[in-house]
Amino acid sequence: MASPESRIIELASRIAANTKKLNDYLVANNLPTPSFDVKGPKANLVPKQEIEVQAARAAIIDDTQELRRLVLGPREYLMSYTHNELISQQAITRFGIAHSFPVGSEASFAEIATKTGLPETNVRQVIRHAINKDIFVEPRPGVVAHNAVSRLLAEDKVIHDWVGASTDDLWQSASQTCNALTKYPGSQEPNETGFALANNTKATVYEVFSQFPERARRFGNAMRSFTEGTGFELSHVVDNFPWGDLPQDGVVVDIGGSQGFVCFALAAQFPSLSFIVQDLEPVIRAAEKQPQAIELGTDRIKFMTHDFLTEQLVHGADVYFFRWILHNWSDKYCVRILRNLIPALKQGAKIVINDNVLPKPGVMSKWQEDRLRSMDLTMTELQNSHERELEDWAELFKLADPRFEFQGGELPKSANLWVLVAEWKGE
Ligand SMILES: C[S@@+](CC[C@H](N)C(=O)[O-])C[C@H]1O[C@@H](n2cnc3c(N)ncnc32)[C@H](O)[C@@H]1O
Repeated sequence: MASPESRIIELASRIAANTKKLNDYLVANNLPTPSFDVKGPKANLVPKQEIEVQAARAAIIDDTQELRRLVLGPREYLMSYTHNELISQQAITRFGIAHSFPVGSEASFAEIATKTGLPETNVRQVIRHAINKDIFVEPRPGVVAHNAVSRLLAEDKVIHDWVGASTDDLWQSASQTCNALTKYPGSQEPNETGFALANNTKATVYEVFSQFPERARRFGNAMRSFTEGTGFELSHVVDNFPWGDLPQDGVVVDIGGSQGFVCFALAAQFPSLSFIVQDLEPVIRAAEKQPQAIELGTDRIKFMTHDFLTEQLVHGADVYFFRWILHNWSDKYCVRILRNLIPALKQGAKIVINDNVLPKPGVMSKWQEDRLRSMDLTMTELQNSHERELEDWAELFKLADPRFEFQGGELPKSANLWVLVAEWKGE
């Protein structure tokens, strides 16, 4: 067994080897090596399908993190987390600091203060806090310029929306979550959350955002930046369920299907199937006007207002499909949503779920696992829901009705969401 002293050498050697692997790949492919220079790359440039290089990259992230913590030691490690981690990012987005001077030019603290309306003292403290986290640079005392990170905030609206929503909405909800757990112990209600306390309301996320269109737009954009990233491609759904084996003229109901983009992708590939996309009224009203919907025609795709907390009205479909729906809801509501299907189900009907599955600890890199553990907490912070392990999904179906046979599922290669299947065995 390695002694604690040799662990740091082991980590350092592994970091050196994996960094060389990453660098060699980038150089061999004429790609820029990582740099926060203002002209540096905006994102990691290693394609997801480069499994080995991606593994080296994940190992560097995990190992540098562990090395840093070990070198800090338990006391300074705990004390290195401060409640101020996100304050400069929040200030940058809240006060438009990244947009207060053009990329490629420089500005003094005083000029940024004039532009943003923030007092110069606050501008200086926020920017210097940010600079220590590699956002902006200060080429000469009191003079600020963009680097690659602040440039991204200035030029990429979606990233700016992500940081804004993350600091103004999610961070506030997170900070109130233990208060919500104290006030509403064991609650499964979506309006008894950190989000509700942070917003001083008894309303749900959806209800609050419906009153603030700009905040809703920003949150929607932020979420989209997440779900449109690599690993969320619709091809994973199209390719990883035997849609082609459904009966001729088979019917698929996409529950909470939003704009119907999953059904558009399936319709293109499986011409004998037809689709019904269900969502709340305002979503459906906008969705049915899309050119793809009109082009496919109502024989192939119908849009239908339906609240999944009420009984399912489309009887006898072959598949009832939920993508990224059930992880938003606590077990109590998921059971209700599944039971609402029962009157409509024919024997053999499939419930297909495209959603997160929590890994067992330690099976993926800490960095990747951390993203899922964080998502799990976010679900609680916003909705009193949580992410589920495979066994939790099985349990959920059992709890809803023993006539659901949970058949498990798989995580398609390079995908982030699993494809899970249950079959209705009732009459
Ligand atoms: C996280 S989004 C998932 C959308 C889509 N399935 C996807 O894969 O991106 C949740 C969707 O559920 C819809 N929704 C929320 N509450 C609903 C309800 N009670 N009945 C029907 N749809 C609902 C929302 O409007 C939204 O489109």
